[in-house]
Amino acid sequence: MVGRRRPVTLEYLHAMNNVIDFINVNRERYLEELKALLAIPSISALPEHAGDVRRCAEWCGDEMRRVGLQNVQLFETPGNPIVYSEWLGAEGAPTILFYGHYDVQPVDPLDLWLSPPFEATIRDGEIFARGSADDKGQVFMHLKAIEAHFKQNGRLPVNIKLILEGEEEVGSVNLDNFVKGNKELLKADVVVISDSAMFARGVPSICYGLRGLVYFQIDVRGSNTDLHSGVFGGALANPAFVLAQMLTGMKERNGTIKIPGFYDDVVPLTDEERQAWATLPFNEKQYRKTFGIPKVQGEPGYTTLERTWARPTFEVNGLLSGFTGAGAKTVLPAVSMAKVSMRLVPNQDPNTIAKLFEDYVQKLAPKTVEVKVTRMHGGKPWMASFDNKFIQAAGRAIEQGFGRTPVFTREGGSIPVVATFQEELGLPSVLFGVGLPDENAHAPNEKLDCDNFHNGIIASAVLYQEIGKL
Ligand code: BES
Ligand code: MN
Ligand code: MN
Repeated sequence: MVGRRRPVTLEYLHAMNNVIDFINVNRERYLEELKALLAIPSISALPEHAGDVRRCAEWCGDEMRRVGLQNVQLFETPGNPIVYSEWLGAEGAPTILFYGHYDVQPVDPLDLWLSPPFEATIRDGEIFARGSADDKGQVFMHLKAIEAHFKQNGRLPVNIKLILEGEEEVGSVNLDNFVKGNKELLKADVVVISDSAMFARGVPSICYGLRGLVYFQIDVRGSNTDLHSGVFGGALANPAFVLAQMLTGMKERNGTIKIPGFYDDVVPLTDEERQAWATLPFNEKQYRKTFGIPKVQGEPGYTTLERTWARPTFEVNGLLSGFTGAGAKTVLPAVSMAKVSMRLVPNQDPNTIAKLFEDYVQKLAPKTVEVKVTRMHGGKPWMASFDNKFIQAAGRAIEQGFGRTPVFTREGGSIPVVATFQEELGLPSVLFGVGLPDENAHAPNEKLDCDNFHNGIIASAVLYQEIGKL
C-alpha cells in the first residue's frame, strides 16, 4: 500500500474530469439537499433534542446509502449514535478514515438570528443555518464528492471508512471508547477531517495543530437563601464578589495564567513557525473591525495568531449571580456560578492541568463560602508534522478545488478525537477545512460560503483520487 505510486494515465485523468463536470452541473442540487440536513435540530447539548439528534444520525445513514456507501451502521453508545459506513473496493489503494460530526451547538440567543437557524437560507452567496459550517456542510461536501465518483465511474479511487459522531460539541465523551473498542474496524492509512476553517477568504489552508481543552463549572455558596442587602450587607461574604476575586486570581493583569505549574509542559513556538506565520496575510485592523474589538490583548511577546494557535488560555465562558433583570433589587445573592475553560497546547495534558486547576481553586477559596468545582469535558491538544505524503496530496487537491496552494495553519479550536486517532490507531490526520473565521460557528447567523462549499466538493473528490494514487 505504502510507497507505490500508480502512474497517472489518460484514462485516470478522464475519470476525474467527468467527476468534476458532474459536480459543476449539480451545484444547485447540492445546496437544496444540504438544506434538508440543516433542517434537523441535532443539538447535542440539550436533552430535549435527543430525538432530533437520533433522527439526524438516521438521515446521515440513509444519505450514505443513497450516495453508494456500504455497510451503513448506527453504533449505539451511552450517548448519541455513531454513524459508520464504508466502501472497500479499491484493491491495493490506501484507506481513508473520514471523521465528521452531525451534532450542532445550541442556537441561543434566538432573536439575533436574521433567519431561523433550522431553515437554511441563502443570502449573498452564503447559506445561513446552524451547522452550515460546523460541521454538517463540510461533512456533506464529502458525501457529494463520493456520490460524484460513484455516479460517473461506478467506484471510488480509494478505500474509505466514514464515522460521523453526534457528541463532538459536548466533548466527544463516548468516542474514545468506540475507537479503542473498534481498532480493527477503523484500520486505515490516514484520517481526513473537514471541520476547521480556511485561513481567510481565498486563502485555503491545511491545519496541522489543534488546541486541547479542559472545562469546569465553579459553584460558590455564601448562605442558604438570598438576603436583604441592607439588613445583612457587610456581615458576610458576597458569592458574586468572591467568585469575581477568584477568577481575577487566575491571571496576571497582562494575561499570564497564575495556576502553579500551568506552563510546565508547554512546547515553545519554534522560530520556523513564527517566521512562517508572520508571512500569512493576517490583518489585525480588519480582524478588530470584523468582530468589533476595540483593542486586542493577550500574553506579552506574542502575536494574535501565536496567542490563539500556540499558547494556552484560561477563559470565563459564562458567569451568573444575583439580580440581572430590569431595574434595581437590593439583594445579596446566595450563590454564584461560573463556567470556565482552558485551551491547552502540546504537551499539556488535560488531566494534569485539571488537577493543578482544582488545587489552585481550593487555595484561592476563602473560608467564608463553600466552593464546588465540577469537571466537565476535555480533550488533548494535537500537532503533526506537515511533510507527509497525505498532506502533500491534500495540497494538490486543494489547488485543483480552490485555484491556489494551501497555507499551513494551526487552529485555536479543539477536536478531541484527533489526538485519539494518533495515539490509539497510529494514524496521521489531514485537516482540510473550508469554513471561514467569520462564519459565526457557535454564534447566531452561522453560515457557509456557497463557493467554498462547492470548491470543497471538488477538492474532496480530487483528494480521494490523489490519496488513491499513493
Ligand atoms: N469544529 C470545531 C473545532 C474547530 C474550530 C477546529 C475551528 C478548528 C477551527 C468543533 O466543532 C468544536 O467546536 N469543538 C469544540 C470542542 C469541545 C466541545 C471539546 C471546541 O473547540 O470548543
Ligand atoms: Mn466542528
Ligand atoms: Mn463546533
